[in-house]
Amino acid sequence: MPKFKRVLAIETSCDDTSVAVVNSDNHVLNMLAANQDKDHALYGGIVPEIASRNHTFTLLPLVNQVLSKTGMKLQDIDGIAVTNRPGLIGALIVGLTSAKSLAMSLDIPFIGVNHLEGHLLAPFLVDDTYAPPSNFNYPFLALAVSGGHTSMYVVHDLGKYEIIGRTKDDAAGEAFDKFAKTLGFEFPGGVKIDQMSKTGDVTFVDFPRGLIDSSTLDMSFSGLKSSGMRYVQSITAEEKDKNINSICASFQEAIVDTLVTKLNLAFKKYKIKNVVLTGGVSANSRLREKTLEWARRRGITVAIPPLRYCTDNAAMIGIAGIQRLNRGEHSDMGIGPMPDYLKSDFVNEY
Ligand code: KG4
Ligand code: ZN
Repeated sequence: MPKFKRVLAIETSCDDTSVAVVNSDNHVLNMLAANQDKDHALYGGIVPEIASRNHTFTLLPLVNQVLSKTGMKLQDIDGIAVTNRPGLIGALIVGLTSAKSLAMSLDIPFIGVNHLEGHLLAPFLVDDTYAPPSNFNYPFLALAVSGGHTSMYVVHDLGKYEIIGRTKDDAAGEAFDKFAKTLGFEFPGGVKIDQMSKTGDVTFVDFPRGLIDSSTLDMSFSGLKSSGMRYVQSITAEEKDKNINSICASFQEAIVDTLVTKLNLAFKKYKIKNVVLTGGVSANSRLREKTLEWARRRGITVAIPPLRYCTDNAAMIGIAGIQRLNRGEHSDMGIGPMPDYLKSDFVNEY
């Protein structure tokens, strides 16, 4: 019987405040999240001070709500998992300080979790409507694509994560959002580009696909971002409005082509037939469609956790935390928030 049966998990590394209770069978007993998109939309991007301030208002009420919805009291929790790296320092401080205070007052252990480990373990989460594919297990290839990161990993086992490729400049979500802003869409505009693209012609503009012909697993999206901006500046407002769907579809296709090409390259190199797509951009319908089609042709199992576990969320922090607590790890009160991950979080330096 595992020592830690239920952990309370807290995630405040960026602009989402999220709290969950996760048990030792990877079941999410409940999870709630408060999204701050509209508070940042006015500024066209995330304002760290606003993010931290909002966390201070929303975090403890969310803890109370999550517990009451599961019919539990704080005393029913036997450990706390909290993101302490990487992320915005002010935002991390709110979650970490709250976790330490709760752990101290309840006299239970807590553990600081690497946010990226959470994203990598998210496919193993289970709830009433999601479970990983039945034959899904370690090792797997993971493509994590969000507004902040775009990286590829070989996930060998719990705690054994190898970085095999990453963007050399912008994250794919950032490219989506910046291009969306150029087109006049509200931040974060990735989902809007996805919607507009559905009726567009992907060949309308031949946008560049950075590093696509190179044998590296690294990616680049800044050339595409600049090219997108230049393109929009070069056309009239009428041309833009008339062809908006095809302009979006062409831009989206350049990102999706790059991601799927690199995934294929990783598969050829590592010959691992389990693949995970995670991060907010994994919501992109074209990326899902092309990844699933690619995988089907090669007999690859793909796990795409539901969006609530792909975007920043506390359940993924809970699964990483409870598994580590159950193998005897915990953090000391002295740990602080960190803007970057630790060298020891990954088996290789990249
Ligand atoms: O993981 P996430 O919620 O937050 C972090 O960035 O950590 O990812 C948010 C990113 C944003 O860039 C957003 O525009 C993008 O995911 N995104 C999408 C879609 N839904 C969210 N990008 C393209 N298509 C979508 N459907
Ligand atoms: Zn994230």
